Amino acid sequence: MTNLAVVGGGVIGLSTAWRAAANGHDVTLYDPEPVRGGASWLAGGMLAPVTEAWPGEEDVLALGEESLRRWPGFADELAKEGVDPGLAEHGTLVVAFDSADAGYLDILADHLHGIGRAADRLTGREAKRLEPGVGSVRSGLHVPGDLAVDNRKLLHALYAAGVNHKVRFVRERVERIPDAEAVVLAAGAWTGRLHPQLAGAVRPLKGEILRLKPRRGCLPPPTRTIRAVVEGKPIYLVPRGDEELVLGATQYEAGFDRAVTARGVRELIEGAERVFPAITEYELAETAAGLRAGSRDVLPYVGLLDDGVFAATGHHRNGLLMAPVTADAVVAWLEGEKPPEGVEAASPARLHQKEHV
Ligand code: GLY
Repeated sequence: MTNLAVVGGGVIGLSTAWRAAANGHDVTLYDPEPVRGGASWLAGGMLAPVTEAWPGEEDVLALGEESLRRWPGFADELAKEGVDPGLAEHGTLVVAFDSADAGYLDILADHLHGIGRAADRLTGREAKRLEPGVGSVRSGLHVPGDLAVDNRKLLHALYAAGVNHKVRFVRERVERIPDAEAVVLAAGAWTGRLHPQLAGAVRPLKGEILRLKPRRGCLPPPTRTIRAVVEGKPIYLVPRGDEELVLGATQYEAGFDRAVTARGVRELIEGAERVFPAITEYELAETAAGLRAGSRDVLPYVGLLDDGVFAATGHHRNGLLMAPVTADAVVAWLEGEKPPEGVEAASPARLHQKEHV
């Protein structure tokens, strides 16, 4: 049994703490506000590597696919702990407005077929038949198997599972590496402050996200995730049942600023209006901004930094997706086992390589 300190109470830290404690380790998790304090609380919840990473980012896709394979088992185990994280299999519809977007959908479709996933190219009319609320789209790509998870249910479920396995939660901000036999640094965008190797290698990537609710008489939310690129900016609409629609997300560099800007809200609403025009009649229930942890090359840093100190950060847009594989990588390290497939490429050792700018 190893005495493990986990720094960070977002999806990566909570998943790691739960899996390590469930495997018999003695775990303490440090975070001033676990569950609600970080980017995971604001996530869209799509578990869709291919629509979140560009074919060409092969290491990111491979790690994402490896984690996606682990998701159903991870969610089942979590539900057995007492709280169902709400894994949905409602799929994704990606819509195109012009010929450039349509070309992008062709590339995505080829890539999905290449890895054996079902993906159907649709005409604009077929896309509208599938989701009657979509606007005037030129064509679509339906990815039926895509998973999504309710991020907030997930975080509550992970916290409860950690409590079940006697994880100690210390509600304090950590300024330096805690004293423990083994330490996992999973403090998201703030991790760069905790270790000299990560200084400048992990940076905040701001994202604004909105939550909207249909009012009486409004068209209900779409039944599946809808994604599009509007004016060069990717947006997504993720239904949380009939009650709520999550609309995200902007992405830009603004340091540690977490203010929601009028420009961010306008950009999201204008984009969403083209994709799903009824949204303008919805109640705007929540606006928020979070900080994703960006790495230098979109791949996270998952691996040893120093003797006893393990990085689990820099997951960029893929924190929820990659939580199971990251937690399994930590457990493999604690148990002296081989890491899961795809994790080696994410080793922070690449920070020492010249070409890693
Ligand atoms: N994965 C969704 C986002 O980062 O906005």
